[in-house]
Amino acid sequence: MRPFDGRRVLLVVSGGIAAYKSAFLSRRLIQAGASVDVILTEAAQRFVGAETFEGITGRQVHTKLWQTAMAHLDLGKSADVIVVAPATADLISSMAVGGAKDLASATLLAAEAPVIVCPAMNTRMWKHPATQANICSLLKFGYDIVGPAEGPLAEGESGVGRLVEPEEIMASIGKALESHSRFEGLKVVVTAGPTRSSLDPVRFLSNRSSGRMGYSLARASWRRGGSVTLITGPAMPTSTFGLSVIEVETAQEMQEALKAELAEADVLIMTAAVADFEVVRMPDAKIKKEGSEGLTLSLHPGPDLLLETKSLREKNGIFTLGFALETEDAIENGRDKMERKGMQLVAVNVANEPGAGFEVETNRISLVHSSGKVEELPLATKEELADQLLDHIESAMDE
Ligand code: CTP
Repeated sequence: MRPFDGRRVLLVVSGGIAAYKSAFLSRRLIQAGASVDVILTEAAQRFVGAETFEGITGRQVHTKLWQTAMAHLDLGKSADVIVVAPATADLISSMAVGGAKDLASATLLAAEAPVIVCPAMNTRMWKHPATQANICSLLKFGYDIVGPAEGPLAEGESGVGRLVEPEEIMASIGKALESHSRFEGLKVVVTAGPTRSSLDPVRFLSNRSSGRMGYSLARASWRRGGSVTLITGPAMPTSTFGLSVIEVETAQEMQEALKAELAEADVLIMTAAVADFEVVRMPDAKIKKEGSEGLTLSLHPGPDLLLETKSLREKNGIFTLGFALETEDAIENGRDKMERKGMQLVAVNVANEPGAGFEVETNRISLVHSSGKVEELPLATKEELADQLLDHIESAMDE
């Protein structure tokens, strides 16, 4: 999976209770197609065994400076990115002063690859001015500091000091591995998930959108260097690390958020499945079941967000990718929506095709360009399709 496929990650694990989370992280990296070398400090081996990592990565784990001559140079040289997780106060302090007393610190001192440091320690150790000064030094060296998070810590304490979750570290690694892109420095707005329109104070009309496609596009845009705002209806919870998230429920709320965000945007990716219908008159009280036989509800169309923002987008030159969910005459209908709603690219889905549309991990898209050209993208996971769609946005923006 891009950008992990065939890339080499060096994972440095130092001695903290959170070391077990690094085993999950190494598994996620392997699943994504990376190869992972692991260095365990002496203290780390008290928390997790070399065999655990060897079983997951299929590679020998490195623990000693003199295990193989020059290991500290070779490991750093061959890595595309180095991740220190968990990074203890002791290892951070050694890195800050250029220590080289063990394999972990010597390798970090000799390495040229980007370094991501994920601190984990007791909250008082984290807040100590010595640790804060060391973190400032690491930032000056150009290292990326991810976390620590706030929450329950070892020994029943709580505060800032927890290792961030493996998914967040994965996102940061993905960003470090991504090559330079046209998205760098652009403001990207992504809408995702369904919206709801109320039928009465307790019921609503909505649709089966899970938000997967939109969240994948938002994450991939961030990895490429975009500053990303995700405006989301009630969707399946997944990682939003690095994204600025605005949660909405109704089409009106999404419209307001969208108008505000578009003022500064360069790209709009409109994946939201906006609820198209609203009840003409919302009752103040819950509709009772008794006596409701033959109940009819009068509906009218709600706002069309792309239509409503068309002139603003045209005025500000915002590149727009939209979606079209169809059951018949898919390409023709998609093309018509593109022209009417002012999009530069439209990704057409056929709702009743197996493996495509709502509530599934995969999708099949026909991509219609404003020139009229149609490209069939093969069935793929929504994560993979997100990167393919961004590649198409990048080249269409250059045209
Ligand atoms: N869209 C929108 N506002 C709506 C409905 C849809 O901005 N009220 C956007 C969607 O996010 C998508 C595009 O318009 O990018 C096409 O959405 P789709 O549901 O396929 O089409 P509709 O315009 O709703 O038309 P229909 O349901 O009649 O096919």
